[in-house]
Amino acid sequence: MSTLHLRSDTVSVLLGTGSDDAPQAEIIHWGPVIADVDADLRLVAPPVPHSTLDVPVVAGLVPQASSGWLGRPGLRGSRDGLSFSPALRLTDLTPTADGRGARVVHTDDAAGLEVAHDLLLHPDGMLEITAEIVNRGDAPYRLDELALVLPVPATASELLDLSGRWCREQHPRRHPVQDGTWVRSGRHARTGHDSSLLVAVGTPGFGNRHGRVWATHFAWSGDREQYLDAVVDGRRMLGASELLGSGEVALAAGETYRTPTLFAAYSDTGIDGITDTFYRWFRSRGSHVARPRPVVLNTWEAVYFDHRLEPLTELADRAAAVGVERFVLDDGWFRGRRDDTAGLGDWYVDEERWPDGLGPLIDAVHERGMEFGLWVEPEMVNPDSDVAREHPEWISRPTVAVPPAAGGRVPLPWRHQQVLDLTNPHAWQYVYDRMHALLGEYRIAYLKWDHNRDLSEAGHEGRPSVHAQTLAVYRLIDALKAAHPSVEIESCASGGGRVDLGILARTDRVWPSDCNDALERQTIQRWTQAVLPPELVGAHIGPAQAHTTGRVLDISFRAITALFGHLGIEWDLRTASASDLRALTGIIDLYKTHRGLLHTGTRVNADLAEPALAFHGVVSQDRSEALYSLAALGTTVAEMPGRLGIPGLDPERRYRLEIVYPAAGELDEHGDHDSLGPFMQTSAPAWVAGGAEASGSFLGEVGVSMPVLRPEHAILLHVTAVG
Ligand code: DGJ
Repeated sequence: MSTLHLRSDTVSVLLGTGSDDAPQAEIIHWGPVIADVDADLRLVAPPVPHSTLDVPVVAGLVPQASSGWLGRPGLRGSRDGLSFSPALRLTDLTPTADGRGARVVHTDDAAGLEVAHDLLLHPDGMLEITAEIVNRGDAPYRLDELALVLPVPATASELLDLSGRWCREQHPRRHPVQDGTWVRSGRHARTGHDSSLLVAVGTPGFGNRHGRVWATHFAWSGDREQYLDAVVDGRRMLGASELLGSGEVALAAGETYRTPTLFAAYSDTGIDGITDTFYRWFRSRGSHVARPRPVVLNTWEAVYFDHRLEPLTELADRAAAVGVERFVLDDGWFRGRRDDTAGLGDWYVDEERWPDGLGPLIDAVHERGMEFGLWVEPEMVNPDSDVAREHPEWISRPTVAVPPAAGGRVPLPWRHQQVLDLTNPHAWQYVYDRMHALLGEYRIAYLKWDHNRDLSEAGHEGRPSVHAQTLAVYRLIDALKAAHPSVEIESCASGGGRVDLGILARTDRVWPSDCNDALERQTIQRWTQAVLPPELVGAHIGPAQAHTTGRVLDISFRAITALFGHLGIEWDLRTASASDLRALTGIIDLYKTHRGLLHTGTRVNADLAEPALAFHGVVSQDRSEALYSLAALGTTVAEMPGRLGIPGLDPERRYRLEIVYPAAGELDEHGDHDSLGPFMQTSAPAWVAGGAEASGSFLGEVGVSMPVLRPEHAILLHVTAVG
């Protein structure tokens, strides 16, 4: 057995290559850097326990029963029941020219199968894996599953994943790893509001900034399974695969299926280390958003479907006055769209509401110095639309027949809408042409690309088609981007229903939730941003009373929460008070001052004993500056927050710490019963008035005595290096 060593500054991946006893290549280490891999590999060869197979069992890149693996197999499929159990053997391993990756090929000549893995370890420590299977036989091969798997050590005995629903996406959960297979399945034919951006396992009690953690992200916007297979022999595999429908992928002779990409990060500094790897990887992409993220105003919660030039121009006036830079016209502008029951699919400007087209509004927006953005939902139709009436055969459905009289049926409705079958080239071309025409006719800088239903029973000519539909959507966005390279696209799916690295390979930001309630957003954003850097995560300041929850929150809490994303406003500013408009101007100025830091820095999350407090920040790469939010998400257990260590600073440097928002003039340092300020205390810690200085190591280790925050309030701290 020999090894291939992929190595970054923080991570090593060791691939053991097969011998007669070990027919497959196997990842024998994914974790901390190994300085010298010149070792006798008998050190890691497993024993043969009693009452098992007579040979040591190899957990290869494709775990398989023919190698003795009795956990979840990596490949399932057959030729009408035959060739059901592959016996893949390593036939080629070619390191990439730069030494950062390898292509590993296994074949089973008798079964006529070839599986090739591409592994790539990025300099930031991100491991990227994909695989493809080729049918080398003559008969069709029906593929049920091709999984990507990574071994994790048994010391990784605690699992963290995220779940949620509409308006409550990406909430964390933890549980101990137990024997058996733990599986998260997604059958939404989009990523899903409950989908986990992250599946992480770690040493017991791993925290934001301590413990060893192994984490994966599955970059796919269709059906999926993410799992941890804890096998009775003690080995553990983190895995993910596309969840294919019955008969969905039948490979003809010579045909290939390629998996989505599995991204994997390892950290010995808790979840923050995982986050750091993802941020560095995102930001190193050539396609990553480069210019400062413009402040957005989105019209949805401001006017909903009430689209009229005059009030929208007034809204644009107010928006420009507070410093907005991008005005986005949401749902309601196209033919027949008066509410959510009609019009989807008819992507022509509504002639009744907009007799002169969108030009006058777009001109008004540009004259006020803002960019214009437009909402679309290209994959959808309302049955009450011209396109659905003219082309009922374009609706994705489980039946071959279209007319109900012939047995045709469509999936159950959801928000009165159905899904266009984009695997039908005519439907695809229609949508492409309409989007292309709109982008050609109007100066549009940004599309908010929505997707408001699950694709239950997605089918093409009677066969499941989620795989092909997902790729067709990717192709559609890619083609539009190629034709209109300067147009930015947001991935929205009733909020955070399509947030993944597959869609983000071709879009520029996500809408993580329809919930603009800042208290809910604190959790949604914290965990969305465990993987996605803030410049890709839309965060809007809404009115005092949140539309989706009815909760009433102070503007400073709403503003500080939104500041840590790609800032926007979703509020009918025509109804905002003068003091609210002043506050908005202040926070937008603050955002513009600090967005360079916020959108390039390192995310840090303190580990706190107090469950109701959230303390996180962004530290510049050179550690000369940082911004932190301290938020009370509820009433605290203790009377005082106590001394909190400021995470992420350079221990050797001296810093100045001060509260920058609410601004000094607005800050009631005491917060008596009549005050609506952030504090609830008889007197503030002495440093609060005017700030204070100390070394990074003092601030980090001794900590800073924090003021007592009123529940659902926050303060913004600024730290700068001095001297
Ligand atoms: C759902 C989105 O998430 C909202 O922001 C809004 O765009 C509506 N759709 C419009 O129908």
